[in-house]
Amino acid sequence: MRSHWSGRLGFILAAVGSAVGLGNIWKFPFITGMNGGGAFVLVYLVAILFCGLPLLMAEFAIGRHSQKDVVGSFKELTPDKGIWKLVGWLNLTAAFIILSYYGVIAGWTVDYLFKSLTGAFAGKTPEEINGMFGALVTDPGRQMIFLTIFSGLCLASVMSGVRDGLERWNKILMPSLFVLLFFMAVYALTTSGAKEGLMFMLYPDFSKLTAQGVLEAIGHSFFTLSLAMGAMITYASYMDNKEDIYPVAVRIAVLDTVVAIVAGLAIFPIVFAVGMQPGAGPGLIFKTLPQVFAQIPFGGVLSVIFFILLCFAALSSAISLLEVLTAYVIDEKKVDRKKATIIMTIAVYLLGIPSALSYSVLGNFKLINGMEWLDSLDYVASNYMLPIGGLLIAIYVGYIWDKRLVRAEITEGGRRYVTIFNIWFATLRYVTPVMVIIVFLKSIGLLG
Ligand code: PHE
Repeated sequence: MRSHWSGRLGFILAAVGSAVGLGNIWKFPFITGMNGGGAFVLVYLVAILFCGLPLLMAEFAIGRHSQKDVVGSFKELTPDKGIWKLVGWLNLTAAFIILSYYGVIAGWTVDYLFKSLTGAFAGKTPEEINGMFGALVTDPGRQMIFLTIFSGLCLASVMSGVRDGLERWNKILMPSLFVLLFFMAVYALTTSGAKEGLMFMLYPDFSKLTAQGVLEAIGHSFFTLSLAMGAMITYASYMDNKEDIYPVAVRIAVLDTVVAIVAGLAIFPIVFAVGMQPGAGPGLIFKTLPQVFAQIPFGGVLSVIFFILLCFAALSSAISLLEVLTAYVIDEKKVDRKKATIIMTIAVYLLGIPSALSYSVLGNFKLINGMEWLDSLDYVASNYMLPIGGLLIAIYVGYIWDKRLVRAEITEGGRRYVTIFNIWFATLRYVTPVMVIIVFLKSIGLLG
């Protein structure tokens, strides 16, 4: 018997834990900054509504119905159409690549937690705080130490079975993170950069948006909801039928989006208040938020709390990715859970090493468009693998998988959400794929 979540709350907590992570707090603000602000935010919201949410429901349906890992799911649902197994493989590969560099960024948050604990931000000037980030990423030793610590934390929490405990902790930690972010946003809005920051985030200037940016917004709607990587399929495979898909999916999508927006509101006013560039790249939150902590009352304590919460958010997301890989090895290769977890953690850790060394030892090694290893992996995974993976899942559920089964999943056996099903199914067939294809073709220059 496949083990299931301990009831409704268990599943929701795990899925929220997976969705809310560095994608919301680290990635969303920095890609918004690099893509010119408001217009990008608007497109991202549209992408969540027409790509992310429909796909989240699709993945829940696939996982809950098949009760299998991501590769096994496609085999199980359409045994005569073996080619779709490739989608499972694509998802699995994306999970592997993303987890490898996710661990490095998570390592940065652990490093910043240590910095907070030693009061490193107190009394520092903005320039000094800026410099700390550069000093961290160019230090190969530190990078390796913190990647190792974070990988160890992942392994330990999956192996020791504290996993459930962790999700339960999330019940307290996620709302705390949210409350803290909320107050940071309120504070940010009292600084001199408030007006400019708000304008930057909310005023849509479409002249700043490129086709690449739109593709990035779509890719991010998948990244932030843990889609096209098997995470939600795998988690839903431990879900039982007593759980309704639609309301759970809507809650997760709304919550995840709100966290990202509030993170943006906490960051951009500060960016302008201290005269930084919004397009500063992956270091954005590490360069801005500590400046807040350096200035506000109780900043030292609050920064410790903030980075603890961020580490937990990163951990519960990383664990969901690790689960995709281990569930595959367990289900398809019949390896026991303990061994599977160790093998996969080591494999991911090894692939993480070049990411950890991206800005130091491998600093001169540019992979794609003059980007370092870590940035290149993120670029390929988020802008190519996820949109293509998402597109294929939409086509799979919209056209390939038996419609009666799809209908039964979303309408919970025909009892509820019939109109919702109709709207959702049409979106999945005609809107999501068309949107992804057009944007994709445009961004690679094939569509004028
Ligand atoms: N959704 C997570 C985040 O926003 C990242 C993640 C991606 C987790 C894919 C699991 C799977 O940080």
